[in-house]
Amino acid sequence: MQGKRILLGITGGIAAYKIAYLIRILKKQGAEVRAIMTPASSDFISPLVVSTLTENPVSIEFWNKQTGEWTNHVELALWADVLVIAPCTANTLAKMASGLCDNLLLATYFSMKAKTIIAPAMDLDMYQHPTVKRNMEALLGDGVQIIPATEGELASGLEGQGRMEEPEQIAQILSVFFQNEGKKSSSKTVLITAGPTHEAIDPVRFIGNHSSGKMGFELAHLSLSQGHSVILISGPSVLELTHPNLTLIRVQSAQDMFAAVQEHWNACHMGIFSAAVADYRPEVFAKQKIKKNEEDFILHLVKNPDILSWASAHRENGQLVVGFALETNNAEENALGKLDRKNLDYIILNEFIKDVSGFQSETNKITIFDKDKKAHVFPLKSKREVAQDILSVVLTIE
Ligand code: PMT
Repeated sequence: MQGKRILLGITGGIAAYKIAYLIRILKKQGAEVRAIMTPASSDFISPLVVSTLTENPVSIEFWNKQTGEWTNHVELALWADVLVIAPCTANTLAKMASGLCDNLLLATYFSMKAKTIIAPAMDLDMYQHPTVKRNMEALLGDGVQIIPATEGELASGLEGQGRMEEPEQIAQILSVFFQNEGKKSSSKTVLITAGPTHEAIDPVRFIGNHSSGKMGFELAHLSLSQGHSVILISGPSVLELTHPNLTLIRVQSAQDMFAAVQEHWNACHMGIFSAAVADYRPEVFAKQKIKKNEEDFILHLVKNPDILSWASAHRENGQLVVGFALETNNAEENALGKLDRKNLDYIILNEFIKDVSGFQSETNKITIFDKDKKAHVFPLKSKREVAQDILSVVLTIE
């Protein structure tokens, strides 16, 4: 980030208070930061704070009423290596998408030659509104990189997708952006499998596992934030993710997941298979609820297709294949066995530590093995940080 010129656009949303922290991170990493605030944003963060932290005057209006000086939006746009609008409200998003230019930030956006990256933040129903989605799609088509809002508690007290991405993550995404700047193929299509599969026994029962989908959704979220397209094929999960570059396919069983992977695999540059797929399914699906008439009940299971092995065997044009392994014993040996047997480029070994690493936990402890069995060992981290570590190793841009 050293010496990079980052122009920050701040709009009027509650998440604006977090921008002070983002500025500090960027400055600490050696970036030069200037800020443009919309008039509404100064209700949420003081221009004095922004000016003090950026060590630069803050621009809000086209002209300063006291001094009569005019702010040259074209000069600001040409100065910047990147424009980051965070938080980006539904209002600013709509104006950017439709060409409305009634403040300094918008005039600067329309004058940008370098990339614009936005981090939207709004309440969950606003974020899901068809108009907002349409505007995001339009901006994506215009070459804007969109950091999806995250899930969690919102200022309204509701829970869902709508929170602005955290400052540390925005800084990390910017750092990846500068690393990949000028490279030929900066945007990839990534297929990700996530969550458990449910193998139906009868209309009300299934065989499943404890996977929540979190690891896969975090990988999808970060890939999208970095400007990639994602096909996320998820087993049953309560998690939500919306982004114009995302195709989210929800499935139930391993066979459904297999069919979706088969349909989409050849359109992808790489696949990250984080789903916990049931190895077996009931041979027969009982059309009616099974009654407990017998003392013993024997369920005959048959093997499910190995989706990862299929993708690996059907790769073309250098498609990269990344598998996961969650092991309770002989972890390294078992993971390396899967790396070989399934002919993978990488395998991510999850250490199973109840409630701490593996299913449902907020954190994971991983080791990434590459083709040559070289180990990249990581400490226990949040699944979001784990996604960062995984992508930094497996998603190389030429
Ligand atoms: O969803 P979370 O709660 O966040 O939990 C994340 C996770 C623990 C599920 C995830 O990080 C993980 O480790 N997933 C792989 C679980 C596992 O050990 O799978 P496996 O050993 O059965 O399979 C190895 C690999 O083959 C995996 O990449 C799996 O997706 C794939 N596989 C397995 C069987 C099958 N029929 N098809 C497959 O594609």
